[in-house]
Amino acid sequence: MRTVITAEHLHKEYGSTVAVADVSLEVYEDEIFGIIGPNGAGKTTTVECLQGLRTPDSGRMRVLGFDPVTQSGELRKQIGSQLQQSALPDRIRVREALDLFAAFTTHPIDSATLIEQWGLAGRRNAAFGDLSGGQKQRLFIALAFVNDPQLVFLDELTQGLDPQARRATWGLIREIRDRGKTVVLVTHLMEEAEALCDRVAIIDRGRVVALDTPQGLIAGLDVPVTVHFSLAEQELPDLSAVAGVQRVGRSGNRVEVQGTGPVLALVAAELVAHGIAPADLRVERPTLEDAFIALTSRSKRE
Ligand SMILES: Nc1ncnc2c1ncn2[C@@H]1O[C@H](COP(=O)(O)OP(=O)(O)OP(=O)(O)O)[C@@H](O)[C@H]1O
Ligand SMILES: [Mg+2]
Repeated sequence: MRTVITAEHLHKEYGSTVAVADVSLEVYEDEIFGIIGPNGAGKTTTVECLQGLRTPDSGRMRVLGFDPVTQSGELRKQIGSQLQQSALPDRIRVREALDLFAAFTTHPIDSATLIEQWGLAGRRNAAFGDLSGGQKQRLFIALAFVNDPQLVFLDELTQGLDPQARRATWGLIREIRDRGKTVVLVTHLMEEAEALCDRVAIIDRGRVVALDTPQGLIAGLDVPVTVHFSLAEQELPDLSAVAGVQRVGRSGNRVEVQGTGPVLALVAAELVAHGIAPADLRVERPTLEDAFIALTSRSKRE
């Protein structure tokens, strides 16, 4: 696996604010790498440093083989950056925006191809201000691809999108990865990070507090899973002896069994052995959001 980004002990202050205290991470080729963390944790500052848009006070970075501090010109030619909403005037047309960006690029992908690739064919002559939120996002992605980058940085790309547009954008981001590109994605949506990212760094107060696959972060939590089902008239067999079971609770028809390990399978087997096959048997597992809450300090601060 080729490493496309290496950051070692990045540190960046704005006046008396420590935006990034000490961030080290590696991003591999062909992955969607997520960065999550509370507001003000230093996510945007970190990715801005990696793109050569800001200079860290200290630390070492290597992005696509370049030093973002001393080689930002060369680096910027090889990366795609998501624009901020305010970066385009309302009256510019989709085609014009793509052509304008292409004019600043040495080997641009032509606008017709990008319009086709990112599903903007019906809107090529539309003014930016007349696009829907989802179409604007598609245009931002297309613009980030004008220079045919190997690595793309997306910071809160799906913010403000409705669920359909958001899912469509997830599809686009997967498509980017499947075309052999690397994506760094900053997001506040845990569901998005869990669904999309191959690995996720949790940044809190300017430090990486955890870095793993979403599943790895969740598994690291070591919290019990809960099995839910309902029983009508049947007697509840004694489940407390089932391996891994820590607690059994019953309220009316509803039963909750908390435990660790393969507790769903073992509880199901025990129920079936007693002739009980509840139709609504399900397991509630911890999510990335649970990992986020457990690992970041916000809950402690508030
Ligand atoms: N240009 C700036 N000048 C001064 N302080 C800044 C500047 N940009 C960011 N900060 C401060 O640095 C800290 C980190 O900000 P940053 O934007 O990197 O956080 P973030 O993790 O992206 O937050 P959010 O989730 O809200 O986007 C914050 O305290 C912020 O107020
Ligand atoms: Mg930010």
